[in-house]
Amino acid sequence: MARKWNLRVVLLLLLLSPARARASGPLPLVLNTWPFKNATQAAWQALACGDSALDAVEKGCAVCEREQCDGTVGFGGSPDELGETTLDAMIMDGTTMNVGAVGGLRRIKNAIGVARKVLEYTTHTLLVGESATKFAESMGFPSEDLSTNSSQTLHSDWLARNCQPNYWRNVIPDPSKYCGPYKPPGILKQDDPVCIETNVHGHDTIGMVVIHKTGRIAAGTSTNGLKFKIPGRVGDSPVPGAGAYADDTAGAAAATGDGDILMRFLPSYQAVEYMRRGEDPGTACQKVISRIQKYFPKFFGAVICANVTGSYGAACNKLPTFPQFSFMVYNSLRTHPVEEKVNCT
Ligand SMILES: *[C@@H]1O[C@H](CO)[C@@H](O)[C@H](O)[C@H]1NC(C)=O
Ligand SMILES: *[C@@H]1O[C@H](CO)[C@@H](O)[C@H](O)[C@H]1NC(C)=O
Ligand SMILES: *[C@@H]1O[C@H](CO)[C@@H](O)[C@H](O)[C@H]1NC(C)=O
Repeated sequence: MARKWNLRVVLLLLLLSPARARASGPLPLVLNTWPFKNATQAAWQALACGDSALDAVEKGCAVCEREQCDGTVGFGGSPDELGETTLDAMIMDGTTMNVGAVGGLRRIKNAIGVARKVLEYTTHTLLVGESATKFAESMGFPSEDLSTNSSQTLHSDWLARNCQPNYWRNVIPDPSKYCGPYKPPGILKQDDPVCIETNVHGHDTIGMVVIHKTGRIAAGTSTNGLKFKIPGRVGDSPVPGAGAYADDTAGAAAATGDGDILMRFLPSYQAVEYMRRGEDPGTACQKVISRIQKYFPKFFGAVICANVTGSYGAACNKLPTFPQFSFMVYNSLRTHPVEEKVNCT
């Protein structure tokens, strides 16, 4: 068998032009949302040191948690209505279809690390809130205050602005003018159109896809969610198929943006299914965005996609404040992490 395989490799190399032989296929691949270069570099470095795709995703996302990428990953960002930062994260193994995730994790900085422990040491998929914190402590993670001067200032400024913006509707007092506590009105009236201003830098997430040179695929996410969210809100990031999805037999994808909308469409799962049917990764991403646009033309969101042979693409919904989306790529054709941009449509 080994000899036959070697013969095939030799034939393949003979068939390839010299230029293409040098570029012996783009795997391994590291792909992540936003220009979070140090995360890309850390994942690549992990692969170079012999780590698995799963390890690379965990180490890459953990860098963003430590560096507080954009203030939207890790501690000290996106305080909720009470001023607390909580974290969502997920990691998925595309070989075994195992997933570990945490939602609304309190007082623990390394959310993707806790997600990995859920994957490795439990048969569950998603742990949430204070109980997820207890689990993390039992796994040896230190419990720390996640607030910083910066998150406290964000929160006190928000209070001073009469709690604007917020995510309530159809309650009293009028949430577009006043702070809570809110109650349902005595007589329910029809939905008013809700016009929450899209703050492009208000809800970013690191979503990462790694394809090992052996073809094993992993994906993961980490975020501190939405600024001024209602306590208890969990976004798309820790939901398999929404924030990210990986399947060695079809590809992987990750999403970023308005999680409350994205998660209704399972965009990462849907993109992987398009690629399974043979769609080009860029087209798969685009089709996912188009499906959401039909219902929410003004949603803020982007998706990255990679197929099993290491081709990749991205797509996003065009907004005046969001004409282009940046993502990072590192594969064997490159010598360093490269930022690429896609025009939103
Ligand atoms: C990336 O890593 C370099 C080297 O450790 C560091 O100087 C830089 O501040 C990091 N970038 C960010 C955005 O944290
Ligand atoms: C945070 O604010 C306190 C005062 O409110 C100040 O003493 C401290 O130096 C600040 N820390 C940082 C890291 O800026
Ligand atoms: C991955 O996408 C590229 C570009 O569309 C395509 O040429 C390749 O055949 C795809 N790989 C698989 C396994 O479908």
